[in-house]
Amino acid sequence: EYTAEPFVPERGGLPALRRAAADCRGCPLHRDATQTVFGEGDADARVMLVGEQPGDQEDRQGKPFVGPAGKLLDRALAEAGIDPAEAYVTNAVKHFKFTRAEPRKRRIHKAPSLREMTACGPWLAAELAVVEPELIVVLGATAGKALLGSSFRVTQVRGSVLEEEIHGRRERLVPTVHPSSVLRADDREAAYRGLVSDLETAARILS
Ligand code: URA
Ligand code: SF4
Repeated sequence: EYTAEPFVPERGGLPALRRAAADCRGCPLHRDATQTVFGEGDADARVMLVGEQPGDQEDRQGKPFVGPAGKLLDRALAEAGIDPAEAYVTNAVKHFKFTRAEPRKRRIHKAPSLREMTACGPWLAAELAVVEPELIVVLGATAGKALLGSSFRVTQVRGSVLEEEIHGRRERLVPTVHPSSVLRADDREAAYRGLVSDLETAARILS
């Protein structure tokens, strides 16, 4: 079965995790991607934002949420009053999964499978153990399933405050939609307002 477990160092904090994750071969996604995109932010960040997986831009630049979804997320965080400097930003899966319609054509994002999410879970668990955030903001269904199990439904719990046991630790979470879903929505303005409103719930917990 696929797992990152043997690649995860037991000590050394975020720098050691980041270095080791660069060489992870825990599932097949490392083969076609450019590089591992590990989380970014301070070890003492108060809030951890968890997305799905790196996109095309993130894969090229090696940093999470630097593409169009990331720009939108930054704007929504600022509007909700969450300082990006207080946030640790990461993904449930650390390699970009994609298909190409034709050779040498644009790379199209593909959702990670449950097996790949499970394989990559030890990295997210290790990040949580080091950062020990006061709050986890769950960005969309994939992050929700990775953290809370396959019964997670973002439409049912978005904007609420959850308390759950995750990897043996009691965590407080606020789920919301994935910023990419705002970019795809028919009514983008309404979708964006919804994201900001959920992030305001997160901001109240941190204030
Ligand atoms: N979408 C994600 O879920 N994560 C990123 O880092 C970028 C886009
Ligand atoms: Fe390892 Fe995760 Fe990349 Fe798979 S997606 S190779 S488990 S870092």
